[in-house]
Amino acid sequence: MKKAFVTGWPIKHSKSPMLHGFWLKQYGIKGSYEAKGVEPENFEQFLKDLPTSEFVGGNVTIPHKEAAFANVDQLDEAAKAIGAVNTLWLEDGKLCGGNTDAYGFSANMDQFAPEWREGKKAIVLGAGGAARAIIYAVLEAGFKEVHIVNRTLERAENLATLFGANCKAHPWDGLQDLLSQTDFIVNTTSIGMAGSDASMMPDLSTLPKSAIVTDIVYTPLETPFLKSANALGLKTVDGLGMLLHQAVPGFEKWFGLRPEVTDELRDYILGLSS
Ligand code: ATR
Repeated sequence: MKKAFVTGWPIKHSKSPMLHGFWLKQYGIKGSYEAKGVEPENFEQFLKDLPTSEFVGGNVTIPHKEAAFANVDQLDEAAKAIGAVNTLWLEDGKLCGGNTDAYGFSANMDQFAPEWREGKKAIVLGAGGAARAIIYAVLEAGFKEVHIVNRTLERAENLATLFGANCKAHPWDGLQDLLSQTDFIVNTTSIGMAGSDASMMPDLSTLPKSAIVTDIVYTPLETPFLKSANALGLKTVDGLGMLLHQAVPGFEKWFGLRPEVTDELRDYILGLSS
């Protein structure tokens, strides 16, 4: 029986066991996928032990994604560019690390707004770990200009330098001027959520009517950011599909079958208490 895991610390809120469990059951595969809490100080040893463990691979989540990046034998191209690993598997005894977050993001957009790929100018709000995967995905999709807008300008500048000439960094108060030229905007921050500074919520009314708006947060499904875009009649895509799609390549590697992201799966995950 093939066994996979998701590791993080803490790990109890992860939806990945239910997601992979749904597919294992749906396809009648004799395998397992379990949550394994590993404290940060034990994570390197956990990785060292993997090749001789009962597991064929697994997912890595907060706070271990960067440590996994630094400690695997081989990285895929996405992980190299993003600087973080969310998927582990073994190949000839070697521990391999990949990043499927950018894939998951793009696949979600392709499912619900495939025309997003026709865009030329994008805005990414935020410059943290999640933003790195999104910037990589947006550049891969062919955008000619990616404007990284962040509360702390220096972090946006660091990412713009890392990802190259098509990226430009802006402070938060530079956002308003960019909107009228934008085809696609993605939020990776907690703007508008409880406890955040209400004055930072942008006025999206100057976006072109054809602009596509998305958020990588999926609790709530309609974030305050998406709500304001919906109120303007703009096309929006919620972040749940990114979670579902990023799981596909890992499942295929561990269990040998490429699973489908269906409405049934989406409804099942939505129905779980958070
Ligand atoms: P993640 O891995 O989710 O991206 P992170 O690395 O902590 O987490 O990054 C969080 C991002 O959200 C950052 O861009 C952060 O802005 P700063 O770099 O200025 O800290 C942004 N962020 C967090 N809380 C925010 C808020 N209340 N308003 C605006 N931006 C916020």
